[in-house]
Amino acid sequence: MKVSKIRNGIVIDHIKAGDALKVLKILGIDRDYEDTVTVMMNAESKEYGKKDIVKIENRELDKEDLDKISLLSPTATVNVIRGSKVAEKYGVKIPDEIEGVLECTNPECISNSEQVSTKFSIESSKPMMLRCHYCERLISTLRFK
Ligand code: CTP
Repeated sequence: MKVSKIRNGIVIDHIKAGDALKVLKILGIDRDYEDTVTVMMNAESKEYGKKDIVKIENRELDKEDLDKISLLSPTATVNVIRGSKVAEKYGVKIPDEIEGVLECTNPECISNSEQVSTKFSIESSKPMMLRCHYCERLISTLRFK
């Protein structure tokens, strides 16, 4: 591999080609992150032709992180690295519902005007379609908060 291995942290593999920077954004990785972050875009992939890979030293992923990644890139796989070894490897799974991380595209929706946390149910994954719990609008464009 052209990219160096990491000691502790996470490797997110099989990200849809071109979406690596979006993955970093939804994980809140920005200029304030102090440990090494490696981004590889348009790497060769046997399964998908091309893929992106992100390696983040000294970071863990919680359920909300995994849910967000799954919506953006359902094919992503996560490798948890401990002591330079792959300690865990799993695919992401699209949840049935997602709360508090996406915005409703309907400007009239109560979730955009009052202090209520947004909530969507996932109606389909190919193409991605989510239904707002409050205004029932069907959305296909993901707007992360
Ligand atoms: N990796 C890393 N640092 C380590 C160990 C692994 O950055 N100390 C990365 C590898 O470069 C690879 C991913 O974690 O991108 C998964 O590692 P591994 O399971 O060893 O590779 P593959 O068998 O090629 O993975 P897969 O079968 O999931 O494609």
